[in-house]
Amino acid sequence: MTDTTVSIQGSDVPALGFGTWQLKGKDCSEGVATALQAGYRHIDTARIYENEAEVGEGLRAGGVAREEIWVTSKVWTSDFTRDRVRRATEKSLEALGIEQLDLYLMHWHNPDVPLEETLTALREVQEEGLVRHIGVSNFTVALVDEARRHATIFANQVEYHPYLGQAKLVAQAQEHDILLEAYSPFAHGLLHDDEVLTEIGRAHGKSAGQVALRWLLDHPNVCALPKATAPERIRQNLEVFDFELSDEERRRIDGLERGKRTADPAWAPDWDEPSAA
Ligand SMILES: NC(=O)c1ccc[n+]([C@@H]2O[C@H](COP(=O)([O-])OP(=O)(O)OC[C@H]3O[C@@H](n4cnc5c(N)ncnc54)[C@H](OP(=O)(O)O)[C@@H]3O)[C@@H](O)[C@H]2O)c1
Repeated sequence: MTDTTVSIQGSDVPALGFGTWQLKGKDCSEGVATALQAGYRHIDTARIYENEAEVGEGLRAGGVAREEIWVTSKVWTSDFTRDRVRRATEKSLEALGIEQLDLYLMHWHNPDVPLEETLTALREVQEEGLVRHIGVSNFTVALVDEARRHATIFANQVEYHPYLGQAKLVAQAQEHDILLEAYSPFAHGLLHDDEVLTEIGRAHGKSAGQVALRWLLDHPNVCALPKATAPERIRQNLEVFDFELSDEERRRIDGLERGKRTADPAWAPDWDEPSAA
């Protein structure tokens, strides 16, 4: 049995979180409830996903006590000014039907608003108890270092999977006790048919996706956020704590690195060079 939580700054974070981007309506509310019943204790959403109300329904329908669940949301870049952060936080909490977020992230960097302004506003909602931890998403090593000058950064959520290595961000996360959250752990679905991952999986009775999740979670300070719609897939993605990869298998997976980004919008920062593993 491998670890099911990652310990960061004295808090235990469930290593697998259920991703909800693009889940709408019943797919979202029932997906979150199914995930909780299957054993997930970590749910990832964002204001911009327009599904916080459905995530909230799922949280209530799942039959798991609120304090046992890690809930993350994200503030969108148009709400980064001082006056807007608080309103956005309240709207997220209201839609989710909860009193406090476990983690609240700046969704992307917005060069039009100084980091200090947004992080000061986030520290205020943190001091008021509306959020437990604050963090960032889609930040480079340099941006995380800049953010760290203005607040205690708990997490950086970035695209991370065998086709996109993040060795520099892993090293930074380890050095500063930051959680590195791997989003799109299946490369947004691209790697389910990967031949190497499929072959390695066959030896363990696992799928390519399960191998990718196991590989991610074998890195220090890393949690992963797979998204699925069908209940059997939601459950399958959680079954990654009962097998281990050999060093040789991990090296083969490291070799799949190809700098593949599935999320690279016009407003993306000047990314770090991809680095294997
Ligand atoms: N911070 C950010 O900017 C950011 C950006 C992107 C994503 N995220 C977070 O990361 C989460 C996951 O990323 P993602 O949604 O891009 O993609 P992903 O988790 O890498 O891949 C999802 C795709 O894999 C398929 N899939 C899932 N489990 C499967 C299984 N067991 N067998 C076969 N296919 C399977 C899904 O199909 P079905 O859904 O049809 O089952 C979907 O097409 C998001 O939901 C979100 O919470 C954050």
